[in-house]
Amino acid sequence: MNIPEALFTGKNNIYFQQIDSTNTYAMDMISKTNPPEGTCVRTDYQTAGKGQIGRYWQSETGKNVLISYIFYPHCIKATDQFYLNIMSGLAVRNTLSHWIPEVKIKWPNDIYAGNKKIAGILVQNVLRGTQIKTTVIGIGINVNQILFPVDIPNPTSVAIETGKFADLEKIILWLSAGLEHQYFLLKKHSFDIMKMDYLNHLYRLNEWTTFCTDTTGDFIARITGIDAQGKLLLQLENETTVSFGFRELTFKM
Ligand code: BTN
Repeated sequence: MNIPEALFTGKNNIYFQQIDSTNTYAMDMISKTNPPEGTCVRTDYQTAGKGQIGRYWQSETGKNVLISYIFYPHCIKATDQFYLNIMSGLAVRNTLSHWIPEVKIKWPNDIYAGNKKIAGILVQNVLRGTQIKTTVIGIGINVNQILFPVDIPNPTSVAIETGKFADLEKIILWLSAGLEHQYFLLKKHSFDIMKMDYLNHLYRLNEWTTFCTDTTGDFIARITGIDAQGKLLLQLENETTVSFGFRELTFKM
């Protein structure tokens, strides 16, 4: 299949052989200059790669996609910022589906192949009043890395899943086009379409799963959807519905 070409996303491409973090660099850039929308910052190696919840993102030199994109979604309200997670989650999932058949989005926006994490996304928004001023979408995709440190839970990569090394440039072209497609939907406020697509690809949707919170310990429930703020909706065994925000809940394998 031909790779669709993005109009502006990824066109202004800033590359470093090594950097602390592409997200940190992009956030710094937007605080000092006004880079064109769709600018991306790429590197082969991060000395301080940022994961969610202050975690470190590990990636072997030159093996994986390490990239951050800059957008200015001024027309999006801060209360709708979860749609930037949906936008980025769908773009990465759809990109990887050209290499791997079963790719899912684990709420809020981890990307899973089977029960293993293949990509992570860190969205950092800057707000102006009630609107979003800028967003940096940082994406780490495990592509050609085969061995991972033992302390990384459940990692996998495109090469592990397919048995073949993949072309990072092709993955980035799909990713840029996919992000731009989702960004156009976002700017049109096509929230229903985006949410439906997100739920269609949501990991463990409607499957009975064991979850855990600090206050409840383990419990069994099934994901039924997300609310308007992107909180995860769970149906308990007694049929009541409860909602959880990010960091409040862990999935047990
Ligand atoms: C996660 O914890 O799942 C999010 C990981 C995000 C990693 C990417 S790699 C490129 C970009 N730069 C960073 O420092 N982090 C993101």
